[in-house]
Amino acid sequence: MFKKLVLSCLVFIMPLVAEVKVLTFAGSTRKDSYNKKLIGIAAEMARQKGAKVTVIDIADYPIPFYDADLEAKQGLPANAKKLRDLMLQNDVMMIASPQYNGSIPGVLKNVIDWTSHDEKGKFSTEPYKNKKIGIMSASPSKGGGARALVHLREILQAVSGDVIKTEVSVPEAYKAFADGKLVDPELSKKLQEEVDQLVK
Ligand SMILES: Cc1cc2nc3c(=O)[nH]c(=O)nc-3n(C[C@H](O)[C@H](O)[C@H](O)COP(=O)(O)O)c2cc1C
Repeated sequence: MFKKLVLSCLVFIMPLVAEVKVLTFAGSTRKDSYNKKLIGIAAEMARQKGAKVTVIDIADYPIPFYDADLEAKQGLPANAKKLRDLMLQNDVMMIASPQYNGSIPGVLKNVIDWTSHDEKGKFSTEPYKNKKIGIMSASPSKGGGARALVHLREILQAVSGDVIKTEVSVPEAYKAFADGKLVDPELSKKLQEEVDQLVK
């Protein structure tokens, strides 16, 4: 009788416990972005694992360049507040960043800069603090986006993010994707490992 009760409780509770909320986005506003493709694959992997995944396109949240005078005058821009709220509402983040001149694009750094401030214009890392974050990059070059990932990791750690060790860098991105999947099985396996570590 007691065993039955425990089992039925577990059946009820397990799905509630297992649902991890994941926010995903690429650091690119380009329509045919390789990084949007990559984050889309990671998002689907997380869904398959039972996570509740929200995929956003930062092109839908245009924000001005961070400017302390603008912030003092107008506060947090509405779209930066929306992004910050989305981050706060999710347990995990996955970010795919392009590599620009060996680093991350300004548009992504700008998102991180604005969202690391609260509505009073104070440095506030709540959206990132101790949050598990998975990073990845796709680039047309043979080296992939490995250098951008070094910078992205450091920036996210500076805002107290818990960036997991496993990361994925996809080289020669123009031939890396087919039928909504990564062509290289090894890269696909590594991405699956990264996602598994994030949503377990
Ligand atoms: C300003 C600029 C700098 C770039 N620097 C690099 C680089 O250092 N390494 C690299 O592999 N690709 C570099 N690229 C090429 C990008 O990786 C490529 O445009 C890629 O498609 C961008 O990612 P997306 O497809 O997700 O938008 C650069 C592109 C731009 C516009």
